[in-house]
Amino acid sequence: MQLLDGKLVSQTIKAQLAAEVAAGLKKTPHLAAILVGENAASQVYVNSKIKSCEEVGFKSTLIQRPAETTEAELLELVQQLNSDPDVDGFIVQLPLPKHINDERVTLAIDHRKDVDGFHPINFGRMAQGMPAFLPATPYGIVEILRHYHIETAGKNCVVVGRSNIVGTPISILLSRKGYPGDCTVTLTHSRTHDLPAEVRRADIVVAAIGIPEFIKGDWVKEGAVVIDVGINRVADESKKSGFKLVGDVDFESVAPKCSYITPVPGGVGLMTVTALLINTLKASKREIYG
Ligand code: GUN
Repeated sequence: MQLLDGKLVSQTIKAQLAAEVAAGLKKTPHLAAILVGENAASQVYVNSKIKSCEEVGFKSTLIQRPAETTEAELLELVQQLNSDPDVDGFIVQLPLPKHINDERVTLAIDHRKDVDGFHPINFGRMAQGMPAFLPATPYGIVEILRHYHIETAGKNCVVVGRSNIVGTPISILLSRKGYPGDCTVTLTHSRTHDLPAEVRRADIVVAAIGIPEFIKGDWVKEGAVVIDVGINRVADESKKSGFKLVGDVDFESVAPKCSYITPVPGGVGLMTVTALLINTLKASKREIYG
């Protein structure tokens, strides 16, 4: 079993991005992030996005608003960023407070600045294999597979979870023509009959359901590649914070059966941030939309 080291891959890509900035670009890439409310995990993620920008020499702006912010106020903020010529790309961190409609916010973001790749224009272009901002987590997964030269053509890939931001887009990316892709993909979800049997058929498993340690060792075929997208907080009194992070995969029972597996933390999570940086550079260079 070999660990797929998200830290190593992300450091490698970040070094390339930093070198490109240092060599001189027409414009310093600028990412803005909007965070509404006090969700502790979201604060950690957004801070990590801002810190990563600094590491590679990008400009970043963090815009924090209280949980009581109205949808109209947030939409106004989105419009300001859409029309700010210095901002190349921006994200609105999810989840948003319940009184705000995610869909209306996503649709309000200018697709040319949608470095999260959540806008239906980017999603549709991705699905058709056209140039697009790829959603950050699926993009990060693809880059891990590429870095480790993991074979994908003709492999059975079982994706567990059908979210708009991970499960559905990674199922599309891995079934697309070319590398990493050309997989035979099964997209499973809460209504799937006999999920363990589906997972047992997989050469590549992508776990993105958000349930701690859900996938067990006896569900996984010997030699499978396992990509664990989960980042779940579970109580742990031995930690100062009172919690530890675990994935959607029961690492202890699954890892011994795998050829490769991503750890949590230190796997896909770091790659999500790195993919966002790649998209921000592409936005600043007008690589996708001219
Ligand atoms: N919440 C969980 N993952 C993400 C992500 O990739 N982008 C944003 N904006 N919010 C998220």
